[in-house]
Amino acid sequence: MTEKIFLTTPIYYVNAEPHLGHTYTTMVVDTFARFHRSMGRDVFFLTGTDEHGDKIAAAAASLDTDPRSYADRISGIFRSTWDTCGITYDHFIRTTDAHHVRFVQDVLQKVHDAGDIYFGEYGGKYCTGCERFYTDRELVGGKCPDHETEPVWIKEENYFFRMGRYQQRLLDYLDAHPDFIRPTGYRNEVLGLLREPLEDLCISRPKSRLTWGIELPFDRNYVTYVWFDALLNYLSGLAHVHPTDAPAYWRGANHFIAKDILKPHSVFWPTMLMSAGYEPYAHLNVHGYWNVGKSKMSKSLGNVIRPLAMKERYGLDGFRYFLLREMAFGSDSAFTEDAFVTRFNADLSNGLGNLCSRVLSMQHRYFAGRIQPMNGGPAPEDEALHAVFVAVERDAVASVEQLGFHIALERIWSAIAACDKYVVDTAPFKMWKDESARLRVGAILHTLCDALRHLARLIDPFMPETAARMKALLRCEPGRLADPAPEWFTTFATGHEVGEPEPLFPRIEIEKE
Ligand code: MSP
Repeated sequence: MTEKIFLTTPIYYVNAEPHLGHTYTTMVVDTFARFHRSMGRDVFFLTGTDEHGDKIAAAAASLDTDPRSYADRISGIFRSTWDTCGITYDHFIRTTDAHHVRFVQDVLQKVHDAGDIYFGEYGGKYCTGCERFYTDRELVGGKCPDHETEPVWIKEENYFFRMGRYQQRLLDYLDAHPDFIRPTGYRNEVLGLLREPLEDLCISRPKSRLTWGIELPFDRNYVTYVWFDALLNYLSGLAHVHPTDAPAYWRGANHFIAKDILKPHSVFWPTMLMSAGYEPYAHLNVHGYWNVGKSKMSKSLGNVIRPLAMKERYGLDGFRYFLLREMAFGSDSAFTEDAFVTRFNADLSNGLGNLCSRVLSMQHRYFAGRIQPMNGGPAPEDEALHAVFVAVERDAVASVEQLGFHIALERIWSAIAACDKYVVDTAPFKMWKDESARLRVGAILHTLCDALRHLARLIDPFMPETAARMKALLRCEPGRLADPAPEWFTTFATGHEVGEPEPLFPRIEIEKE
């Protein structure tokens, strides 16, 4: 049976429009999905929007609209943004979908029946931004570490999930699965959290305070706490699309999040699953935060980076390349226009784009675009270039499996450097002047066209548009030349005609003030 893998992004709150942060996670998961598909695995890629709770109700009220139409509008913007960005998600879930609401109510009933939910009174410090209570230890200078606002004291009767009951089981699970949370820094953070006794989790809000949520199946006066509702999207979405294969996909479930929502995913979610009778998922993949220059990205600072604006200005693949190459998965990164332009010009215009143009123009100048035979078979330097690609592919695959997207790209770019060096060392433009060496020039260009074909394969998950353009330029569209065709030196038929060069990444000239 084909291996199944289930990939998720967080479901994004509809109180903001898609920005750099959402886009990074979504592009990483898209890259990972494309990579796994290319390895022959069955992928189910789920994304969507988180639409209930205080925050959304307040955002709708501030615009004088009802939460439902407000959520419809912003959810639509997320979806169309991902469509415009070529994100290959398989399903887009909304927490207001009827099937999700039913699913949440079923799970609540199950957890209630298992004796893991009780009614009680609780007073605590509550941050509306995070929609959760904070313990004093978690606050920084009395303020929410994320929102830098003082939480408000709320005391009310609510339903609680006996999360504490599952603390030891969660610790045992982490112990038995050392790569459950990766990279390790975040695993250690969670182990740190679990050194203290786990408090039970308040999972309801009285309707007197909030009505925009999923009603508790066992008490109509309450709605479900937004995190208990939202986390279940990963199961409700899967069961909705793959009712029969859900268990097989679940065993390969990989959630991708940033560090801001580590606790709900590493503590609330696995313990909820345990109580509801599910095995925890396979991996929690946690990345760092994007800042803009030295600041946090925020509307009030006016420094929010929007994916569609970036696409418009620089093209989709330039943006994808930068995000995936610049951030080491797990660590924070800074976005600056300067760093973007520098990388774009160096790696894309001068690197990949230039190599592609150079090879295709020589092929046209010397052989009217027609590939020549490898007379007498590949020379040692041709074999050496081939060997570089074999090693790079092996490393790139291993790096992506371990979430080292930037390392994989670095390795692929080392293959581009090896091609540039091969051109300098073999010097086909000099050799051409010697008529007796022209057969060899044909073989050198054949080798370089093979290299371009393999570069297109290697970059495909990261830069799908560019990969498709390169394959089209090489006339390697599916059906015309098998794709993937791993063999070097034998795949191109003699006389196969490649396209005229065209600039893949025109240099960005920034006017300095
Ligand atoms: N709705 C919850 C998630 C529920 S999942 C069951 C939520 N939504 S959110 O809209 O705030 O999205 C948070 C996520 O957006 C982060 O975990 C990350 O994936 C992405 N990012 C938002 N800002 C970011 C940065 N500045 N940098 C990197 N990613 C960040 O939390």
